[in-house]
Amino acid sequence: MEQAVTTDTDSARNQCAVALSGATRGGRLRRRARRSALLATLGLLATGPAVAAEYQPEPYQSGKDVVWVPSSEALVNAMLDMAKLGPQDYLVDLGSGDGITVITAARRGARALGIEFNPDLVALSRRNAEKAGVAARASFVQGDIFASDFSSATVVSLFLLQELNLRLRPTLLAMKPGTRIVSNTFDMGEWQPDETTTRAPDCTSFCTAYRWTVPAQVAGTWRLGAGELALAQSFQVLDGSLELGGGRLPLTDARLDGARIRFTAGGRRYVGEVDGDSMQGTADDGRPWRATRAPGR
Ligand SMILES: C[S@@+](CC[C@H](N)C(=O)[O-])C[C@H]1O[C@@H](n2cnc3c(N)ncnc32)[C@H](O)[C@@H]1O
Repeated sequence: MEQAVTTDTDSARNQCAVALSGATRGGRLRRRARRSALLATLGLLATGPAVAAEYQPEPYQSGKDVVWVPSSEALVNAMLDMAKLGPQDYLVDLGSGDGITVITAARRGARALGIEFNPDLVALSRRNAEKAGVAARASFVQGDIFASDFSSATVVSLFLLQELNLRLRPTLLAMKPGTRIVSNTFDMGEWQPDETTTRAPDCTSFCTAYRWTVPAQVAGTWRLGAGELALAQSFQVLDGSLELGGGRLPLTDARLDGARIRFTAGGRRYVGEVDGDSMQGTADDGRPWRATRAPGR
């Protein structure tokens, strides 16, 4: 994928997916083989003691489930801005490549971990973190993202493929409400992003970033004062009704932002915070409200 990608169209995404899934790698792999043969010949001709060359990854080299291509610095910064990453955060980059996202997060004062399948990339990331002076906060483990526990992350970053994002989606949705997920180029299917940005001209390929915030799970029936609140949930979007004094009021503008909930019923606006089986807040008439999950519903 060498041409500029500055749009968010399906065709651009498809081209990026083809590139990342390695279908265009043949030519690059042949060039790499020729280059390796040349380097081997030069090695044979060399006089003096052999010096081990430092590992240099090549863009589009194969990876376990997706090739390696680094995110641009501009897009990494855009993703960390969207996540509002700060020193209190713990970022995990799934498929961390040469470590650029983890190291940039650590430079912002956060603790960060990269999970990467390729051991050479893990070793390179550790050297890069040392050089950047952030090794105390940036660590890397060799592992498979689909067999790793990253549930304690407060921010998860991805530059994978949509199909891999979709495989990860149930795990991501089970994380603590409020956890931010940021992704380079690839979305989460019908889980709509909360925020999208495209970086140009300081980014020339893979320039769209998405952010989602893990919503609390609230689907079901809740007791709200003397009333009954029925909630249906599709990711961060809610639908339902509030039954009060014999009347059934449909909910409008009902959404979650992590653990924060808001909805309007009968002209009254409710804003609050979900905490497991209870939620509470203040209505726009200044009255406090509290709801608890109805047993078994
Ligand atoms: C497109 S690169 C992104 C690298 C880095 N996150 C970035 O944004 O620059 C994807 C990375 O995922 C790694 N990878 C692929 N499948 C993996 C798996 N199952 N577990 C861990 N890493 C994997 C690849 O080796 C590659 O380094």
